[in-house]
This record gives sequence, C-alpha cells and structure tokens, in this order.
Amino acid sequence: MTTASELLVSIDDIGVDRARGGFSRHVFDHAEQELREWFTEQARSRGLQVTTDGNANLWAWWGEPGTDAVVTGSHLDSVPGGGAFDGPLGVVSALAALDLLRAEGFTPRRPLAVAVFAEEEGGRFGVPCLGSRLLAGTIDPDRARNLRDPDGVSFAEAMRSAGMAPERAGRDDVALDRIGHFVELHVEQGRGLIDLHRPVGVASSILSHGRWRFRFSGQGNHAGATPITDRRDPMLPASRLVLAAREAAFGTESARATAGRLVPTPGGTNVIASTVDVWLDVRSPADAATRGLVDDLAGQADGYASEEGCRVEVTEESYADTVHFDAGLREELASLLDDAPMLPTGAGHDAGILAAHKPTAMLFVRNPTGVSHAPEEHAESEDCDTGVVALARTLEHLAS
Ligand code: GLV
Ligand code: MN
Ligand code: MN
Ligand code: MN
Repeated sequence: MTTASELLVSIDDIGVDRARGGFSRHVFDHAEQELREWFTEQARSRGLQVTTDGNANLWAWWGEPGTDAVVTGSHLDSVPGGGAFDGPLGVVSALAALDLLRAEGFTPRRPLAVAVFAEEEGGRFGVPCLGSRLLAGTIDPDRARNLRDPDGVSFAEAMRSAGMAPERAGRDDVALDRIGHFVELHVEQGRGLIDLHRPVGVASSILSHGRWRFRFSGQGNHAGATPITDRRDPMLPASRLVLAAREAAFGTESARATAGRLVPTPGGTNVIASTVDVWLDVRSPADAATRGLVDDLAGQADGYASEEGCRVEVTEESYADTVHFDAGLREELASLLDDAPMLPTGAGHDAGILAAHKPTAMLFVRNPTGVSHAPEEHAESEDCDTGVVALARTLEHLAS
C-alpha cells in the first residue's frame, strides 16, 4: 500500500516555484491541471468513479454516487510559493485511508467519496474556497465568473480554457444533497500539536476572516523631477496602513492583520506610483471584532490618504464568519481517536464553508516547524501515517 508521504513525493515535481521557492499551483494553471490529471489517475487506479462538478471541484466515488455520503478531501492548489502539505496532505490521506479500509475488508453502508475543491487559497482569483463557496451558493456565480486574475483573465475564461462550462457554475443542490458528512484532514498551521506532543488533533473552530483591497490613488510622476513637497504619492498612505494594521491587531487579544500583497502601478523604480493596492487579511475570533478592526483601519487609511492629497477606496473581496465545528461530531471523533486534543485554527478551509450546511469535522496532523504557507511547512511520515489511520477510523465510524 502506498503511504501518504509516498503519494506526496509522487507530485513533488509539479508546480515547483524556482523563483520564489516552494510550490505555486493555481487553479487551472499548468501545474494544477497536471495535479487534476494525477488525482484522476490515482482515483481510477483504485476503481473510484471520477467526476468534475460545475464548479470545477473533483469527486471520486467508492461505488455509485449517492446521498448521505461520507465525503473527505481537501484541495490541491497552493498559495504562491507555498508548502507541500497544505491541501495535498488531505487529498493523499483520503486516498490512503480508502486503501486501508479496503485492505481491512471494510464494506461501507453509506457512499464514500473523496473531494478536491477548486481555488481553496484564492491564489489566482482572490476569493478563497471559491469551489466550495460556489457549490454551497455563498458567492454569486456572476461575481465569481467575473473575478479576474492579475493578468486580467476572468474566472469564466480560465474555466473555459480548462474545458469547463462557466455557465454551470453556482449552487449545486445535487452535490450538496449527496454530502451527509464532510471530514477534511489538514496539516496543522501552527504549533498546537507540537506543544501538546500529539500527532493528531480535531478542529474546534476557525477564526472569522476576510480580505479587503485598499486602493490608494495619487499622481504618477517622475522620481527625479518632482520635488518632495509637490508629490501625491500613494505609497505613503499605503505604508502607513501597513504599520497601522500591525498596531491595531497588536492592541487586541487575538486579532491578526496582514498585508501580504502590495502592488504599485505602474511599478517602476524611477516612477512615483499612480496607485497602490494593499490587500489586508484580517482575522479574529469574533465577527464584530474583525469587522470593527477593518472599519477602524479604513478610517485611518482615509486620513493618511488625505494628508498626502490622495484618495482611498476599500473593497471587501471575501469574508467568512467564525465557524464552530459540529459539537457532537468533534467530541465523538476526539474520543474515537484516543482523546485527541481539540484545537482552534486561524486558517480558512473548505470544511469551514461546508460546516454551515452539513455536519463537518477536521483532523489536524502535527507540523514540526509550525510554519505554513511557506516552503518550511512539514509533516513527518510517521505522523502522516497516524493521520491516515485516524481518518480511516473516522470514515469507518461514520460509514458503518
Ligand atoms: C487559507 O489557507 C487561508 O486561511 O488563508
Ligand atoms: Mn492554505
Ligand atoms: Mn489548506
Ligand atoms: Mn486554507
């Protein structure tokens, strides 16, 4: 039987980002298409029936697709320069858990399926969990079709180039009705399990989180010919916003605010930018606190912009409320898995989107570096094996 780590090794040459380090696998790009093909082959070689839904999510069925299914899976796309485990670990563990259940002679009483959700990271079109949001009907399909990547290609155009029909995108009641339970296994994106000396945990909750684009507009001009006193440089208020975000989050108990992407236009060394876009990722345990922090920063940004003779426009690109995973299910799984510890997470997941519709749970596998969304993200093979066994026990429990 192939282990989860061996399956990960089989894709470790796909989407390698030589410039940034790590992996860059974005929805419908060459690497992600290759991963879709890889998954389809892996699933078919196990006799699973593979389909793609209208939202570009992949499904692999053990037996006939049916309702009240126990579904597991994750995603294969990555952030720019991401690690090898965020997403793929959940997919390979799902395949390995099915292998284990079959080797043990298990006969499921409910249909079992592995799902691979599209654009979980929002690395190309900006909205995370796009495939699961579309499926669940929590994003307007017209808005999704019109999302653009940094090269101006729309989601609809990219979908069409990948051989899919964008007009099919949107709430999918057939797919939704088929899901009885959803369980996502994921590498832990923090130090919880390291500190507890445990290989596997169960998720309790996800922080509320969203993305906001702050667009500062000023006057593009010559870096040498424009006196310092005569500038309307949007980079100034943009930089002050980055500092203000850190300070605002620092002043709270557990909020996080990150400016991970900043794009000056036109972006020349000897050019005062005409606009600067700053994307803020803000998260906290309470919806009101997250929104309050963003409102506060929007007010400050407005002040910084006026002081420089600039303007700022704030656009919400995505938002997800705080998620508390099904209390009965998570307790049940924790006790099934040798009193596995229960952990909250600051990371968003497709499981968080589906939790509003179906009993949903997550299992975390220890990450010895505590680092994620970076090449240092890791999970030891033995911990991956323990994760596969935990997932198999979970699926067996739910599908018996
Ligand atoms: C996705 O992993 C996110 O939480 O940003
Ligand atoms: Mn991620
Ligand atoms: Mn992930
Ligand atoms: Mn995620």
